[in-house]
Amino acid sequence: MKILIVYYSYEGDCAFIADKIKELRPDADVLRLATEDDKPRGFFAKYVWGGKQVLSGKKPALKSYNIDINEYEFVVIGTPVWAGSYTPAIASFIADTKIEGKTIALFCCHAGGKGKTLEKLKSALTGNTFTDAVDFLEPKKHTAGVQEKLNWWVKSWQS
Ligand SMILES: Cc1cc2nc3c(=O)[nH]c(=O)nc-3n(C[C@H](O)[C@H](O)[C@H](O)COP(=O)(O)O)c2cc1C
Repeated sequence: MKILIVYYSYEGDCAFIADKIKELRPDADVLRLATEDDKPRGFFAKYVWGGKQVLSGKKPALKSYNIDINEYEFVVIGTPVWAGSYTPAIASFIADTKIEGKTIALFCCHAGGKGKTLEKLKSALTGNTFTDAVDFLEPKKHTAGVQEKLNWWVKSWQS
């Protein structure tokens, strides 16, 4: 089974998880999404910038990538939670890429308020089959149990 890990990470938590998945499945390909507008911002500025995009349904331009989704049967999609939803970069990826007939494993990273992020993402990906989805509370900071959770999760994908 050919695996693609696709994720967005603004501050490194989802990247931390994606790196650990890659350690457990070195055979997987990895696509880290980035928007043309990505740059470090101050504490309040980043919430205004990110929150506004989510609430307005913005789909920002992504930096170009070279992945053919048709090569993969199994797709892991990871997103930070922004304003109770998945990030605009993931919304752009879903809009740009026809993802159908895949098995999908979702994960999100959040600060304690994941809301219905995983359900919303699932709804945006109709026509696919889903394995268990998992969430992580800012895993770079709260590392306890993260590796065990990942070991169990990745093993549950079989083959
Ligand atoms: C614009 C913005 C909005 C956020 N909204 C939420 C939220 O609604 N709920 C929550 O629990 N965390 C929220 N967070 C915190 C992030 O989800 C959390 O820090 C996550 O681990 C970051 O992942 P990353 O490091 O991969 O970017 C928000 C962060 C940003 C920058």
